[in-house]
Amino acid sequence: MKHVLEELENRRTAAKAGGGKARMERQHAKGKLTARERLELLLDENSFEEYDMFVEHQCTDFGMENNKVPGDGVVTGQGMINGRLVYVFAKDFTVMGGSLSLAHAQKICKVQDMALKNGAPIIGLFDSGGARIQEGVDALGGYAEVFQRNVLASGVIPQISVIMGPCAGGDVYSPAMTDFIFMVRDTSYLYVTGPDVVKTVTNEIVTHEQLGGASMHGKISGVVEGSFENDFEALVQIRRLIDFLPSSNREKPPTRPSFEDTERVDYSLDSLIPDNPNTPYDMKELLQKIADEGDLFEIMPEFGANIITAFGRLEGRTVGFVANQPMVLAGVLDIDASKKAARFVRFCDAFDIALVTLVDVPGFLPGTKQESGGLIKHGAKLLFAYAEATVPKVTVITRKAYGGAYDVMASKHLRGDINYAWPTAEIAVMGAKGAVEIIFRAEASDPDKIASRTKEYEDNFANPFIAARRGYIDDVIMPHSTRKRIIRSLRTLKNKQLTNPWKKHDNIPL
Ligand code: HXC
Repeated sequence: MKHVLEELENRRTAAKAGGGKARMERQHAKGKLTARERLELLLDENSFEEYDMFVEHQCTDFGMENNKVPGDGVVTGQGMINGRLVYVFAKDFTVMGGSLSLAHAQKICKVQDMALKNGAPIIGLFDSGGARIQEGVDALGGYAEVFQRNVLASGVIPQISVIMGPCAGGDVYSPAMTDFIFMVRDTSYLYVTGPDVVKTVTNEIVTHEQLGGASMHGKISGVVEGSFENDFEALVQIRRLIDFLPSSNREKPPTRPSFEDTERVDYSLDSLIPDNPNTPYDMKELLQKIADEGDLFEIMPEFGANIITAFGRLEGRTVGFVANQPMVLAGVLDIDASKKAARFVRFCDAFDIALVTLVDVPGFLPGTKQESGGLIKHGAKLLFAYAEATVPKVTVITRKAYGGAYDVMASKHLRGDINYAWPTAEIAVMGAKGAVEIIFRAEASDPDKIASRTKEYEDNFANPFIAARRGYIDDVIMPHSTRKRIIRSLRTLKNKQLTNPWKKHDNIPL
C-alpha cells in the first residue's frame, strides 16, 4: 500500500516539474511566472483541483516517443475566485514551449465542456508556441476542437484569455473568440506569425513588440481589452473582473453589499459642464461619482478612448457603463469607438447586465478616412447592438446629442427604458454653426445675420425641452441627483421582460 502511495506522489512530482528546473529558471529570468505559480495567484488559496496531470501525448514521429512530459504542456482544472467557481487552463511554456498536441487540446476541451455544463467562467492563461510542429494535422484538429467549443460557449459563460508569453498560430485564434483578452506588457506577444515568417513572406523587418506587443494591440489594433505591467498585476485584475461578471447567462449578475447611500447626491456635478459648449470635461469624473465607491473596471481604456466602456456597480449590482468622452476627439463616434462599444453592449446584453449610457456626442466623425474605412458598417454595429439589447437601458444626456449619434446612444427610439437629460443637454440634428451655414446659406455673406440666426438656433434647439415635450426624454434632472435617479430607475427595471422575435440568429453588420 505504502508503495503505491509513494508511486502516486512520485508521479505528481514529475508532472509538477514540467520541463525541468533549468527551463523554469529561464522562465523566471524573462520576468514570467510558471503555469502553476500563475494559477496559485489567480485562484483562492488551496482551491485548485487539477485534472489530467498524467496525460501524455501519443505522437511517435520525430523521436517524440522519447520526449514525454506528464501533463503535456498545459495545467487544467477548476478553482475558486472569491468563493465562486471558475475553470482554468494554463499553458506551460517549459514543456515544448507550451505547444499544443492533440492530448494537450483534449485537456483544454475537457475543462471547456465542464465549464459550459456547469455554468462557470473559463480563464485561459496563454504562453505558447502554437501547434506542436511534430504532431502536424493532429495539432491542427486539436485547435479546431477548442475553437468549436469557444463558439458554443460564447454568450453562455464568460471566457477570458490572458496572454502571458509569446502566442502564435492557433493560440491567437482561440483567445480572439473569447470575450476578453488581456496582455502582460513587454513579455507577451500575440501574432498570427512571428517576425521571421513576416520577413520571409513580405520582406518587412519588424520587432516582436511592433508586430504583436501589448501597446500595439491595446492602442492600435483593438485586439485586446487591456494590458498589465506583470503577471502578478494581470492575475489580480482578472480576479477583480470576475467579481463583476455573472457565472453564466443562466444567472443574474453578482451583487455585493454596498455601503454607499443610494440617495447620495453630488453637488459638484452641477458645475461639471463648462460654459463654453466646445470646452471638454472628463466624463470619467461623472462615472466615478455615479458608481458605488467609484469602483470601475474599464474595458479597452487605450483603444477608441473617445468612448468609455466600464463595469461598475449600482446598489451593489453590476452595470455596464458606456459613455462618450469629450476629452478625446470631442467624444465623437468613429470606427474604433463604435466597434468597441458595440462589443461591450452585446456582452452586457448576453449576460443580463443593465446598460447605463452617458451621452455627450457631437456626431459621427466625418471624412474620407472614416468613410473609406467603413464607418457606415462599423457605426451600424453600435446602433444594432443597442437596438437588439433587451436588458434594462438607462440613458443620461449630459450635453450634446447630435444627429445619428443621438439615435444610436440608447435613445428612447431604440427601446431606452428611462431616458434622462441634464438641463445642459442639446439635442439636435447638428450644432448651431453647421446648421445655420446650411439652412441660411443665402445669408452667409452677412456676419450679423448669421450671428443672429445662430443665436436663434441655439435658443430654440440647444436644450433638452423640445425632446422632453415629445416624451423622448422622460425627465430633465439636476446633475447632482444623477446617481440617485439612475438607481431608482434600475430598481423599477429589475423584473423587466422584453424578448425579440424568434430567429436562428441575427445578421449584425460584421
Ligand atoms: C514544438 C516548440 C514549438 C512548436 C516552441 N517549441 N514552439 N515545439 N512545436 N510550435 C519548443 C522549442 O523547440 C524549445 O524546445 C522550446 O519550445 C522553447 O522555444 P524557443 O524557441 O527556445 O523559445 P523562444 O526563443 O522564447 O521563442 C518562442 C517562440 C518560438 C517565439 C514561440 O519558439 C517560435 O517561433 N515557435 C514556433 C511558433 C510557430 O510558428 N508555431 C506554429 C504556429 S501555426 P526546447 O526543448 O529547446 O526547450 C499554428 C497552426 C494553428 O499554430 C492554426 C489554427 C488556426
